[in-house]
Amino acid sequence: MALNKVRQLVSYPHELLFVLLFSFVKNAQKKKKCAISVLILLLLQPIFKEDNKMTKFKDACVLITGGASGIGRIMGRVALEKGAKRLIIWDINEKNIETTIAELKQIGSVVGYKIDISDSEKVVECYRKVRNEQGMVDILINCAGVVFGNETFDKQNITSIEKTMDINATAPMIIALQVLPEMIAQDKGHICNIASAAGMISNPKMSVYAASKWAMIGWSDSVRIELKQMKSNVQITTIAPYFINTGMFDGVRSHIFPILKPEPTVKKIIRAIEKNKTFKGIPFSFHFIRFWQAILPLAVFDFFFGEVVGIFHVMDKFTGRKN
Ligand SMILES: NC(=O)c1ccc[n+]([C@@H]2O[C@H](COP(=O)([O-])OP(=O)(O)OC[C@H]3O[C@@H](n4cnc5c(N)ncnc54)[C@H](O)[C@@H]3O)[C@@H](O)[C@H]2O)c1
Repeated sequence: MALNKVRQLVSYPHELLFVLLFSFVKNAQKKKKCAISVLILLLLQPIFKEDNKMTKFKDACVLITGGASGIGRIMGRVALEKGAKRLIIWDINEKNIETTIAELKQIGSVVGYKIDISDSEKVVECYRKVRNEQGMVDILINCAGVVFGNETFDKQNITSIEKTMDINATAPMIIALQVLPEMIAQDKGHICNIASAAGMISNPKMSVYAASKWAMIGWSDSVRIELKQMKSNVQITTIAPYFINTGMFDGVRSHIFPILKPEPTVKKIIRAIEKNKTFKGIPFSFHFIRFWQAILPLAVFDFFFGEVVGIFHVMDKFTGRKN
């Protein structure tokens, strides 16, 4: 318990500690002492990091939705490299499941299930099958997601609205509902929900996608608090990345914030799971979005982030994956 507290402390983002330090500590002497403490924590970090690397995925049964493409596929590979006992892939794309299994079976035990997670009944049925065939899921990563078109909301259609909400927002809840009661009963397990920075900042031409990720963040973080109130050891991690170069958002142009690379992004997500992080924005600066929204007048926020940084135009040339 005490060791976990030390781990949590040393894994805290030190940039944030420095900001707090210089904002709140006025006395120069105290400032010096605090700076030394932060530096000591920084020096201690690698020791505890090493320990973290070994624990979470070793001998775990890991279920990843959308695990046959993009970051889901890479997370599956990394989970096996870290010693996962079994990787279970849920995906709608049968061909990609087969190629992923062919690649990953060299590293460890991997099985795939073709499933459309927007069909709740099929999800319940498929999980029952998985539970019988593979045993308890220790780590669930809700990663499957979709985005449609680059049109303003008035040009959306009912089918794409329903599909986006079903796959990105409702399905993660239904899937979590299958694994969570057993995790709570066993007092162990981890659910990681891949949301998006679009769930923190409003953005034109992706309103429905933003709504689905906004829903995921609200739900995921609420469950985290419920588990904390229950004093459960089951962990929830919510991830909110900026655009990642996987193909899902092909055509997007981002001038100031670089589009993220899949491999380093996955490393950050996996590390967040290993460290029991509750919420992770990638890059780190995205943690401050809500802060800026809170302190700036809306017109200033819209002008600066929307027009100067260019966030409100990133979707203008979006094509999405062609096949
Ligand atoms: N790529 C980005 O720029 C970006 C940025 C932030 C967040 N995200 C989120 O990260 C997650 C993974 O994105 P990615 O870039 O790896 O995308 P991707 O398109 O490469 O992978 C998504 C996977 O989900 C699967 N899938 C889609 N609908 C499904 C359904 N109904 N049932 C089962 N599987 C289904 C697809 O077949 C695919 O394998 C998504 O939730 C996405 O919203 C992506």
